Amino acid sequence: MGLLIRNVLAVLPAGQAHAVARHDLYVEGNQIAGIDEEPQGFVATQTIDGTRRLAIPGLVNAHTHTYMSMMRNAADDLAFTDWLFGTVVPIEDRLEPEDAYWGALLTQVEMIRTGTTCFNDMPMFVDQIARATRESGMRAVLARGLQGDAYDRDDFRLAQTMAARRENADCSRLTFRLGPHAPYTCGPNYLRMIADVAREEGMGIHIHIAESQDESDNMLRDHGCTPVEYVRDAGIFEAPTIAAHCIRVSESDRAILAQHGVSVVTNPASNMKLGNGFAPVPEMMAAGINVCLGTDGAASNNAQNMFREMGLLALIHKGTHDTPQCVSADEVLSMATRNAATALGLPIGSIEVGKKADITLLDLDAPSLTPLNNAVAALCYSASGSEVSDVIIDGRIVLRNRELLTVDEERVRFEIARICARLGLQG
Ligand code: NI
Repeated sequence: MGLLIRNVLAVLPAGQAHAVARHDLYVEGNQIAGIDEEPQGFVATQTIDGTRRLAIPGLVNAHTHTYMSMMRNAADDLAFTDWLFGTVVPIEDRLEPEDAYWGALLTQVEMIRTGTTCFNDMPMFVDQIARATRESGMRAVLARGLQGDAYDRDDFRLAQTMAARRENADCSRLTFRLGPHAPYTCGPNYLRMIADVAREEGMGIHIHIAESQDESDNMLRDHGCTPVEYVRDAGIFEAPTIAAHCIRVSESDRAILAQHGVSVVTNPASNMKLGNGFAPVPEMMAAGINVCLGTDGAASNNAQNMFREMGLLALIHKGTHDTPQCVSADEVLSMATRNAATALGLPIGSIEVGKKADITLLDLDAPSLTPLNNAVAALCYSASGSEVSDVIIDGRIVLRNRELLTVDEERVRFEIARICARLGLQG
């Protein structure tokens, strides 16, 4: 079984930057097996003519909550605490496991159609998200959101994570992390327990840190430290950690994050929409922190489209720092691809021999990509995601000429409408 993408303009890594040139890409099984050089014994059972296509590494959404898509546009223009505790949590309390399955499928349809091949998720009902992901063909890292106060290894949510991890051990596209929700929803003993389990089980962590000014103010008042210090002192950073947001991080916080090799996921649309400000991305890059990019959930974004995030990230820091030279298009593309691969510890994020075959193709006849002049700049400043024509994940074509081959989209829309009606949402 081999897939040949012939004569395609491809974005390949070149040091810290990217190089764009025409290549033949050979995919064997779930791996990129050759670039321009046909692997021995290769038999092309499928061929894609890449003449009018641009091949990029599949985008990686490094922070989201895929089950939330039925809450899209259901809680907007509200203050953060009103948004979370006044609207989102009361809806979450009424969600059934099956709702999370359909919500996750809808999010995955949106992500595949806009070129995302892998996502780092913090869901409820982790087994339902695993089920949806097995069906869609996407690659995912799942960390069931955990909250608590006590050192409690019998915590049923933690048990859910471990059960889902065991049940899905046969699916190489699924890996699992531990997901303590945030410093303001997890007590120090609970975080210490999560850190201990992570170390013993060899698992990574996915957590929200320093998302709002209120979070930092309350932490200083109640514990006399910053959210970053609180999480560090509980031992969380002893495990490989991915921290979402990190908006309110001082120079000393940034030094702590860098020293512990914490990867940070910035979520520009969500952060702006909730009025939380901007993560100090240029300053984090200068401190040597591995910065990645995510959408956050549909209730706070309200799209799951990484092209929109790349565009925002490439622009907002230029605006806030009064210089166009603080975050380049090349760096943004890396944040959406190989930086996330580093954070997740997965062999993805670049078109290279030996990497998993997660490849997105864009239609070069799209007006937004004409003329192309600079492909990497086009990805950040011109593309909207609508140019995505084909998506290959783990060597399998899941989107072919804009036709989704893995999910019945009409059924998903029907089920989401049914769920919205039950929850009293407009649908
Ligand atoms: Ni989040």
